[in-house]
Amino acid sequence: MTERTTLALFARRADLSFMRPLLEKADPTLDIVTWPDPRCAEATVGVGWEAPDGIYAQMPKLRLVHSLAAGVDNLVLGHELGSASVCRVVDPGLADGMLQYVLWSVLYFHRQFDVVLANQPRKAWNRLPPPLPAPKFRVGLMGLGELGGHIASVLPRLGYTVLGWSRSPRQIDDVETFHGDSGLTRFLARTDVLVCLVPLTPQTRGILSRRVFDALPEGAALVHVGRGEHLVEQDLRDALASGRLRGAVLDVFAQEPLPADNALWGTPGVVVTPHMASMADWGVVATQITANVQRLRRGEPLANVVDLTRGY
Ligand code: NDP
Ligand code: OXD
Repeated sequence: MTERTTLALFARRADLSFMRPLLEKADPTLDIVTWPDPRCAEATVGVGWEAPDGIYAQMPKLRLVHSLAAGVDNLVLGHELGSASVCRVVDPGLADGMLQYVLWSVLYFHRQFDVVLANQPRKAWNRLPPPLPAPKFRVGLMGLGELGGHIASVLPRLGYTVLGWSRSPRQIDDVETFHGDSGLTRFLARTDVLVCLVPLTPQTRGILSRRVFDALPEGAALVHVGRGEHLVEQDLRDALASGRLRGAVLDVFAQEPLPADNALWGTPGVVVTPHMASMADWGVVATQITANVQRLRRGEPLANVVDLTRGY
């Protein structure tokens, strides 16, 4: 007989009830409870997004915490996890979605759609000089993991010059790579569009600050798809106002939804998108979670485990 696993769905604000039928379909033997149901105390598996404060103390039997997404920062940072493993979603569809978003953003700056769209309200028919050839337009990927690495494997084939920065050394065909603090300034100095795809950890919090903007070439642009807490918003607004940065496409914010009174909504040069850069199909997410539950039951190694000492 299959052992019945209690799986707790938890979130600080989001309603995760849509996951119940998908998880039940993927594994009908699961006993699914939703926090704050007191039966969460029996859960050996937690599936969540934005962990409520003190949640793990309420689930002392947890052996696995599974993210619904690629990032795990909002499940681990500032939370006492005990001995539970943490897993995340790694999916080719998610990587393709991110590639599409980043490609749109690169084209937006490379082909000067930012300039053309700014001209439209003034009915200004300004034909611009021809764009730089793609090899002269340099895309800097901050983060070369599942998502950044996928983008790095495609953009050179479209002709772009691609640079990448990671924590440890990486080798990727047709990409000039840099790593660590010592490589950061050299990486930034040659980047026309900086794409932030590092995870949020204590080391990367606030990384998109004046120090980084000042190290980019004058008139560079930012595409931010990591986490809101990477960005020092005032430093970005200053860099845009001074012309040091030409523009920014922002998908993630320290407070989401971005409050109506946040200055970024109306900052010239900023495109705001509602944390939509990429999402895995929820059926795929449910299948990955239940596959890991089955591995846990069988005592097999879990897939897509987060290294909690690195924080990602
Ligand atoms: P991975 O863990 O696969 O890759 C992370 C990359 O960042 C690695 O290359 C890693 O270096 C690098 N990195 C981590 N810390 C540092 C550091 N201190 N200095 C330099 N480089 C560092 O993550 P994913 O690619 O799967 O996802 C990245 C992030 O994208 C997620 O954590 C999430 O925040 C965000 N995301 C946003 C979405 C959106 O819709 N906006 C959707 C999905 C994800 P190394 O290679 O040496 O390990
Ligand atoms: C993720 C996200 O981490 O959607 O997958 O931000």
